Amino acid sequence: MDEPGEIAHAMMEDIAQVLITEQELQARIAELGAQISADYADKDPILVGVLRGVFVFMADLVRATTIPIEVDFIGITRYGPSSQTQGVVRFTKDLEILVQDRHVLFVEDVIDTGLSLRYILRNLDARRPASLRICTMFNKPRKRLFDLDIAYTGFMLPDEFVVGYGLDYDEQYRNLPFVGVLKEEAITHRRLPSGAQT
Ligand code: IMP
Ligand code: MG
Repeated sequence: MDEPGEIAHAMMEDIAQVLITEQELQARIAELGAQISADYADKDPILVGVLRGVFVFMADLVRATTIPIEVDFIGITRYGPSSQTQGVVRFTKDLEILVQDRHVLFVEDVIDTGLSLRYILRNLDARRPASLRICTMFNKPRKRLFDLDIAYTGFMLPDEFVVGYGLDYDEQYRNLPFVGVLKEEAITHRRLPSGAQT
């Protein structure tokens, strides 16, 4: 048995390298929260996140803000054989708050190709918000397919598949409090993700 409060060996064994520690993540989020609070003072912004990966970052980020805010989520599904897919994006859950004439801060866990984000931004923009900006915890610019103006970035990441802090591999590892790279055998020993994914 693992000690209480200690991460199970079954998960730690799969991690090749910790890229960003829990302390580093939390320190950066405190800075982001302070910056957003200063920039959006008196603007009553709506923070909009895409389920599910962003739920960990969103929970920490909102608690690092000190101004009145609202929070909402959308759900999307990308169809395709792998995370490389350029396939169809479909909304599975829409916003519940009306964003017209409101200041919207779009919050992402990780931006890789930018494909999902471009689809969502176009859709949100059509609803005529007063402003629409992007905050991402992790930015992987290597494979970016579009120019994206990102207002707030937590950390730049190399073009590697990472897990933890909300990010999953085959729905696992979201609960790790740090961000790490999986061992090769942890990937090959599992069923490869197929079909719908977010
Ligand atoms: P994009 O459309 O290529 O920018 O894809 C972004 C989405 O792909 C994220 O919201 C994640 O769900 C997923 N993703 C991209 N990179 C990673 C990673 O390193 N680990 C886990 N999920 C990732
Ligand atoms: Mg995912």
